[in-house]
Amino acid sequence: MNLLIYKTPEELNQDLADYIIKIAEVSIEENDRFNFVLTGGSSPKALYKLLSTECKHRIDWEKVYFFFGDERNVPADDENYNGLMAKKTLFDELGTAADHIFYINTTLAPEKAAIEYKKALDKHFNGSDIVFDFILLGMGDDAHTASIFPHTTLVKDEEATVSSVFVEKLNTYRISLTAPLINKAENVAFLVFGDNKAEAIKHVIGDEVKDFDTYPSQLIDPIDGKLTWFVDEAATKLLEA
Ligand code: 6PG
Repeated sequence: MNLLIYKTPEELNQDLADYIIKIAEVSIEENDRFNFVLTGGSSPKALYKLLSTECKHRIDWEKVYFFFGDERNVPADDENYNGLMAKKTLFDELGTAADHIFYINTTLAPEKAAIEYKKALDKHFNGSDIVFDFILLGMGDDAHTASIFPHTTLVKDEEATVSSVFVEKLNTYRISLTAPLINKAENVAFLVFGDNKAEAIKHVIGDEVKDFDTYPSQLIDPIDGKLTWFVDEAATKLLEA
């Protein structure tokens, strides 16, 4: 695991954008495509804008396929829909073709949406192993990632798939990649900044003895792939040096 600590989110985003572009270049060179899983939440907005503006001409975006690590159980035109945030900050600017964006279909009931998303992934990967080139993850101040929230069924889901989950604390359903599916990826990067994440980071990265039920982000440990944490100093202030 690689831990990169930055003074500011701006510096972090610049390096993370370069990192993503470099990996995309290699994937496109080798496989003629780059399968990129996006995180939701607010943290990635500036990064997505950077990718769709300053980095717009650095790679052939027509070779990039976009997926979502999780989705809220809301309509696609809802401000809380991760797909809408990505559309506004990334896809519209890049002019991404519809068949290169794999939205999670929340017009379906959560369980059905998860089943259909998994089917779409199986089709995209021609029925072979679903190994994403790059999965970008955020982390909540409760140490959840994607929609793998503490003390939920998703923490114990051992299947590499897409599942729905009822999140009691939010009183809502979510659809999410499971940790085993995330751990198949070639590259996984966490994007975490801000004081409010320091307590969670202290445990997720700092604790020798793991407690997945309380700190689900500890589940992220790629089998063959590379894990890198892009964090700022505020989020790591409680980590022992
Ligand atoms: C979501 C995300 C989730 C997010 C964290 C952090 O749907 O909300 O996928 O896992 O990354 O909640 O969110 P912030 O970046 O807004 O702190």
